[in-house]
Amino acid sequence: MVPGAKNSVLKLMATTILCDGPFELSNVPDIADVSIMGDLLAAIGVEMSRPAPGELVLFNSGQIIPVAPYELVERIRASINVLGPLLTRCGEVRLSMPGGDDFGARPIDMHIAGLEAMGAEFKFSHGYLEARADRLHGADITFDFPSVGATENLMTAAVLAEGVTMIDNAAREPEIIDLCEFLVAMGAKIDGIGSSTLTIEGVEQHNLRPVAHRTVPDRIQAATYLAACSVAGGELDVIGARADNMTMLLDRFADMGLRLESTDHGIHVAADDRPRSIDVATLPYPGIATDYKPLIITMLSVGDGVGIVTENLYPGRFRYVEELQRLGADVRTSGHHAVIRGVPRLSGAPVKAHDIRAGAAMVVAGLAAEGETRISGIHHIDRGYDDLVGRLRGVGATIDRDTD
Ligand code: UD1
Repeated sequence: MVPGAKNSVLKLMATTILCDGPFELSNVPDIADVSIMGDLLAAIGVEMSRPAPGELVLFNSGQIIPVAPYELVERIRASINVLGPLLTRCGEVRLSMPGGDDFGARPIDMHIAGLEAMGAEFKFSHGYLEARADRLHGADITFDFPSVGATENLMTAAVLAEGVTMIDNAAREPEIIDLCEFLVAMGAKIDGIGSSTLTIEGVEQHNLRPVAHRTVPDRIQAATYLAACSVAGGELDVIGARADNMTMLLDRFADMGLRLESTDHGIHVAADDRPRSIDVATLPYPGIATDYKPLIITMLSVGDGVGIVTENLYPGRFRYVEELQRLGADVRTSGHHAVIRGVPRLSGAPVKAHDIRAGAAMVVAGLAAEGETRISGIHHIDRGYDDLVGRLRGVGATIDRDTD
């Protein structure tokens, strides 16, 4: 069963800042980043509890402290998502600059410019971003690029702003739609959900209410199991995966020779042969997500032929290529391109997980490698994957986790 998406649940959690009361989230992945976001919210004034596996209750007492301290913020990128809710609810916020996966510069200029257009004043001092606005007002905002985080921050801020906010060239990832649906259930007024123009009409604080919500399934975790099947061969049912949120990736996987079928329960995949090599470029949704790329490069490493992968979001996001090379992959990078000449089989060796998705790709590479592959730095994988080892063991992989 594919659990809920990390990149959705963390944003839903941050959004509970907007109104008082108990929120219930289900289909929550059991990952380290949820605990870190829980700690951050506790410092802000929202208490998190876990009544059952896969469930969270977030209780917002109304006593909100609009400060996000360095020790917590530097650990996850999604901590930036408290900016919009805190500013719009409290009229002020003090936020340490966010951390997260290290795959190149990750500026927040679009978040700041958008909130400034809505009336916020920013200043930066001693590593903290400080913002103020008595009450934000609606604005017409056009993004140069459909940033996921900036779309989310502006959308949540606009919910309590005075008047109408229009966000043009907004991101339209499935996780954004999930957040929109959560906000609408809370009482927000949002038009254009799923399109690149979002219109948000601000409401008064007392119009919002706490809700229960089921998190959208994680398309990146789902893709990880499809990739695992592709390199290991055989058949798999990826229960809970939503094919409609992965259309373009599934098309490309079909081009690579995977037999895929959308079922009532998820996606059925069968791999008869080595993957066929293809060219792939990452793009904002509905394009191929940058988070899929380490998996795709790993599949192409054992592909039949030559594939070129072009990264259009994070130019430096190729660090794990060195690790694949240690396993015998023939990958060359130049700027934001990688050329992968497939070899029939990788050869097991010690490798490092550099970030969440790169770590998962190392696991998939290990399945494609002869002999033992030992992966260090697995705390990165724990940030985004829910029992990857157990789930792969469950379908026959020989994989263990060191307890020390
Ligand atoms: C989110 C995901 C991440 C995914 C990415 C793109 C979370 C926690 N992380 O990250 O896994 O890889 O979407 O799908 O949900 N940019 C700017 N200025 C800004 C904002 C972004 O230049 O103000 C640039 C970034 O540096 C990057 C690109 O825009 O090159 C994409 O960033 P964005 O879509 O904002 O990604 P995140 O929300 O950080």
